[in-house]
Amino acid sequence: MNKLCLLGLLVSLASHSAFADTQADALKQKNAFVSDLLKQMTEAEKIGQLRLISIGPEMPQPQILKEIAAGRIGGTFNSITRSENRPLQDAAVKNSRLKIPMFFAYDVIHGHRTIFPISLALASSWDMDAIATVGRTSAIEASADGIDMTFAPMVDIARDPRWGRTSEGFGEDTYLVSRIGAQMVKSFQDQSAASPTSLMASVKHFALYGAVEGGRDYNTVDMSPTKMYQDYLPPYRAAIDAGAGGVMVALNSVNGIPATSNTWLMQDLLRKDWGFKGVTVSDHGAITELVRHGVARDGREAAKLAIKAGIDLSMNDSLYGQELPGLLKSGEVSQQELDNAVREVLGAKYDMGLFDNPYRRIGVASEDPADTNAESRLHREAARDVARKSLVLLENRNQILPLKKQGTIALVGPLADAPIDMMGSWAAAGVPRQSVTVHDGLRKAVGDRARILYAKGANVTDDLKIVDYLNFLNFNHPEVEVDPRPAAAMIEEAVKAARQADVVIAAVGESRGMSHESSSRTSLEIPASQRALITALKATGKPLVLVLMNGRPLALSREREEADAILETWFSGTEGGNAIADVLFGDYNPSGKLAITFPRSVGQIPMYYNHLSIGRPYTPGKPGNYTSQYFEEPNGPLYPFGYGLSYSRFELSGFALSNKTLNKGGKLEASVIVKNTSQRDGETVVQLYIQDVTASMSRPVKELKNFQKVLLKAGESKVIKFSIDENDLKFYNTQLQYAAEPGEFSVQVGLDSQAVEQQSFELL
Ligand code: BGC
Repeated sequence: MNKLCLLGLLVSLASHSAFADTQADALKQKNAFVSDLLKQMTEAEKIGQLRLISIGPEMPQPQILKEIAAGRIGGTFNSITRSENRPLQDAAVKNSRLKIPMFFAYDVIHGHRTIFPISLALASSWDMDAIATVGRTSAIEASADGIDMTFAPMVDIARDPRWGRTSEGFGEDTYLVSRIGAQMVKSFQDQSAASPTSLMASVKHFALYGAVEGGRDYNTVDMSPTKMYQDYLPPYRAAIDAGAGGVMVALNSVNGIPATSNTWLMQDLLRKDWGFKGVTVSDHGAITELVRHGVARDGREAAKLAIKAGIDLSMNDSLYGQELPGLLKSGEVSQQELDNAVREVLGAKYDMGLFDNPYRRIGVASEDPADTNAESRLHREAARDVARKSLVLLENRNQILPLKKQGTIALVGPLADAPIDMMGSWAAAGVPRQSVTVHDGLRKAVGDRARILYAKGANVTDDLKIVDYLNFLNFNHPEVEVDPRPAAAMIEEAVKAARQADVVIAAVGESRGMSHESSSRTSLEIPASQRALITALKATGKPLVLVLMNGRPLALSREREEADAILETWFSGTEGGNAIADVLFGDYNPSGKLAITFPRSVGQIPMYYNHLSIGRPYTPGKPGNYTSQYFEEPNGPLYPFGYGLSYSRFELSGFALSNKTLNKGGKLEASVIVKNTSQRDGETVVQLYIQDVTASMSRPVKELKNFQKVLLKAGESKVIKFSIDENDLKFYNTQLQYAAEPGEFSVQVGLDSQAVEQQSFELL
């Protein structure tokens, strides 16, 4: 090493250790502050800090203010304006004995006032800059409304699309979900959770909530340790390593022990193994539910189990308040256990900067926005940009898309003009009337250059029991409004419009409530009312473009046959309609890729690309008996993970590895040429998968290890390089040791997970 290098190294080591020193000092200061405060608190005040309540009809405001002033509430969620939160903060810092500030939380999942596409759609962008924009913009908007913490990101791996909350996560793949989850945390929290424009992130739902049996919400989870460590736990870990200040604990049990009373999960894994230093929060009412899980005799035992296992904040649950005094008195819960929980709550408030300035995000009344929903507070441009990136083109026969802005276009379907549905579930403070529907977007795009004929064509469903279910929570403002006309009359109107048109666009799929918490389905098909509409439209012989809206993979075998083009638009947010029009008319060239497998039918579930190798795999082209398959329909997915078309055409060639062997500690390079062979500039995602061919246990047939999104001009080619080292080959073996095993590895590159080129090397 030359002198200059040595000097550089010394300087960098010195600045590194200076940074570590400052960090250690800051931590010391925080701990001293919290310890000092703890000493001044009464037992009742401590218990009060552990209580997180929902602002809603359950408790009238005067009572809330009284409770806060008495030190019996630590934080609230669901109050979403500065003027709502200010009196609550006043009650804490002006009227309570120790003046400990409140914090205010909210489910800011995919936007706050500007609603971005749902999380599953965001994942389909494979675009970390877009993800960062969503996190940052959401934090800026929510913090400007006096909010300090979000219950996000949701990083539950979802491989069973019957589960309604599939829409809320980033798909089926461990690597992709981990990267996005970490990025979301960084973008919510920015440089520091204390910044006035930051939200503290609370990653959820710890753990394994996406694996509920049968895809039925709140059901049990039973999973082998290797699958847990290898596939389901890494995204939570990635979010924590990215600095998430909070962890929301899941409602499900994990191998028989509810997460809420799971000492192994919250203490051994989360705190000891992973070194988590933040606050844990139960999910809604989860402590009380321990009785129904059958692990606690009564509320008293439930509170005891939860605090001992490591639940700090109790969300909308009165058991800590009721039971902890008695449990402390009898010694069943120790002072130390109480203090540990309170310490984390105070620590989180410290990290959010609230002890420095409790009004950090609430600001002063004179600067409150006159209209919280003012147009000027929205970030429409960013929302449109991100929404365009999240759309996935599934089919495009005879290049029917992009459409020309001319002639007559029939726009039909129950989701064509559905402002609430545009926003998707968990739409935070989004306002339906501010969202651009497909109808709005199309009209604006064509202006007076083309004629648009609109007809609803069908209700989302004709099953009134389902409508009642979807409207149950919101009966004052029904989400699903039923058009009372007979189904045949609605179809007839749509067919009439189609007959007059050059092309038919049908916006079909699910209403947003169908892909939501507590909205599990037994079928993945488009509801019958809409399928009848599609068939009738097909019969007109006009070119048919389906604009799908849904929050989970749907079984689209029939639609694939009937439609000329299919654009998967998920629930694409405030600017969805404009983004969809941009893609339909070619003002934007689609580049989204599925972050979750689309099965052919519900019977194939679970279906995910990175399944383990098996002894009798189905071999395409050689069906025969006694191989792993369902005999009634073709095997494999309808649309694989990583799949999505573009108006450009891309080709891969010259895939090579720099070496045929890899030493532990070394590196090798995979390179491939990607060429845009079309006349249009466009973006695609080059995906790198690796398979451990022979190991001490069966390993997945492939696993995503890296990807690059590239923009290529018409005719342009680029060499894409991926570096591979031992870390990309590690896995958890049956002893749960994380290590790479020597032997053969297959490296695969592709523009989706199935159509891949393959090369191998040996790890020495
Ligand atoms: C959900 C959480 C959410 C909480 C607060 C619960 O029902 O499971 O994801 O953060 O409500 O709204």
